[in-house]
Amino acid sequence: VGEVLIDVLDERRFPASEIRPLASGRSAGRRVRIRDREVEVEEASAESLAGADLVFFAATGALSRELAPVAAGLGAVVIDKSNTWRMNDEVPLVVPEVNADAVHDHSGIIACPNCTTIGVVMALEPIRRAAGLRNVVVTTLQAASGAGRDGLEELVSQRQALAAEPGAALVPSVFAAPIENNVVPLCEDLLPDGYSTEEMKLLGESRKIMSLAELPISVTCVRVPVGVGHSATLLVETERPLSEVEAREALSKFPGVELVDDRESGTFPTPRDVAGRDEVLVGRVRENCAGKGLWLWEVSDNLRKGAATNAVQIAEVLLERRLLAT
Ligand SMILES: NC(=O)c1ccc[n+]([C@@H]2O[C@H](COP(=O)([O-])OP(=O)(O)OC[C@H]3O[C@@H](n4cnc5c(N)ncnc54)[C@H](OP(=O)(O)O)[C@@H]3O)[C@@H](O)[C@H]2O)c1
Repeated sequence: VGEVLIDVLDERRFPASEIRPLASGRSAGRRVRIRDREVEVEEASAESLAGADLVFFAATGALSRELAPVAAGLGAVVIDKSNTWRMNDEVPLVVPEVNADAVHDHSGIIACPNCTTIGVVMALEPIRRAAGLRNVVVTTLQAASGAGRDGLEELVSQRQALAAEPGAALVPSVFAAPIENNVVPLCEDLLPDGYSTEEMKLLGESRKIMSLAELPISVTCVRVPVGVGHSATLLVETERPLSEVEAREALSKFPGVELVDDRESGTFPTPRDVAGRDEVLVGRVRENCAGKGLWLWEVSDNLRKGAATNAVQIAEVLLERRLLAT
């Protein structure tokens, strides 16, 4: 996410006078390319944060817990990608197309939602604005890179192992079961009630972002052998009747969403279509033949709109609204 963030800041010409890459002691001294310059990576510490106006955290929850308040105390605005601050009442949780105004409530830290949540709320919000939401059922199909570089490397190494020896035994480390040539119906940790921590994040964060504290939403998160690009199916029951034609119109008008839904040619969005893009692609819009509601299919790049791009968009809102030192 940090590497993609550096690219996105450059692509969007974010007006920073200086960008300093920080990581752990393991990477300190490495050189990375930022805007055609080689810059040395520093170890993240209280000292390394001094003088910053804006600090993006895309590391571990523990690091955000320790250093985000330090950065905020030094006068910076923190945009945090970890899970640490998202459900804190004092911290806005922001997807700019949905709840940009929430940035005004920050006290130094703004949280960026989970990569899965962002795609899901981007698909839900246009439907909500058109007809309200009564009940939502989601199943996600999440890419290996959603579990960071280690997750992506586990997929690639298992793929190579099976290519070299089709019957090779695969030993999972990041994921709950072998990920290559498989589908794993568990993301992160299982809770006593049978749901996973990832499923609970999607539930709580979606309610917070859309300010729908009571929204009934039930989730199954599944890991699939895809490198980049999370997908989800959503069964959405609305407060007021909404035809599939009206739903398509609402989705196609919503900023950041692109409707890709051509039944005649059989064109629907896939993770391969979305990797490297910032739009959330939505398709397979159809009425539920077994009851009320509409089905949607959504895909988004978990490293871009699901993480880096959303974080940079939050920073752009801060700039536009003069909430950041310039
Ligand atoms: N992957 C996604 O799709 C995604 C989407 C949304 C949110 N997120 C969240 O974004 C964060 C980063 O995820 P990622 O996928 O980019 O993980 P990652 O590939 O594992 O990278 C983690 C980065 O954090 C750095 N780091 C780890 N411990 C550190 C420490 N003690 N001090 C300073 N830096 C430290 C690592 O530095 P070294 O290179 O030195 O080890 C590395 O650069 C996580 O909180 C994750 O939950 C990820």
